[in-house]
Amino acid sequence: MSPPEPPQGALAWDHRYREGTDAWELGQPAPPLQAFLQHHALAPEAPGRVLVPGCGRGHEAALLAASGFAAVGLDFSAAALAEAERLHGSSTALQWLQADLFDPPALAAAGLTAGSLEGVLEHTCFCAIDPSQRSTYLTTVRELLAPGGWLLGLFWCHPRPGGPPYGAEASALARQVEQAGFTKACWEAAVGSASGRNGQPRDHEWLGLWRR
Ligand SMILES: C[S@@+](CC[C@H](N)C(=O)[O-])C[C@H]1O[C@@H](n2cnc3c(N)ncnc32)[C@H](O)[C@@H]1O
Repeated sequence: MSPPEPPQGALAWDHRYREGTDAWELGQPAPPLQAFLQHHALAPEAPGRVLVPGCGRGHEAALLAASGFAAVGLDFSAAALAEAERLHGSSTALQWLQADLFDPPALAAAGLTAGSLEGVLEHTCFCAIDPSQRSTYLTTVRELLAPGGWLLGLFWCHPRPGGPPYGAEASALARQVEQAGFTKACWEAAVGSASGRNGQPRDHEWLGLWRR
């Protein structure tokens, strides 16, 4: 019997990684997130099990693992995870999971059940999914977090139409996160944004930390 077909979306992302049209790739963790985790007074502290949805090449998951968290990098693109494994390896502190974030049975099969996480780190997954899926993203993340768990994210609040990357209006995005049941700890224009593979500086980035 042949293996099940990955969803169309995953195939499209695979194609971008294989063809090198992954213009978002930074080759490192996003600097505003790294600076926040390493220097900010509100930075979440290890240990704890944490998830990076749509982790791509896994730079943020590897950073979290190096910071003492047990990190799971999740992506539905096999090509992305092959790159993540090649670049960062895997260990008990750093695991890669090929799954669709919007497939609860697949998450549960990997032990990602209600309240099983201390934290979720978001970097350019929220802007990659269709905006109609954003409320499901937020309810999924909230459900996975233990009470008091954190959502730290760098959000691309650009005003351009279409996507991906789909933009957002910063205050509307923050309102949507709070309406999903999160309490804001920090929401500010990001400092030190990097340029993607296409050399274009990432504009309109906002950094947020919320608690469940
Ligand atoms: C723009 S890329 C960002 C990758 C990485 N976070 C980074 O910043 O370099 C978006 C990633 O989200 C993944 N993705 C999109 N929708 C997903 C879903 N429903 N479940 C899991 N991964 C998803 C894609 O495969 C892709 O790797």
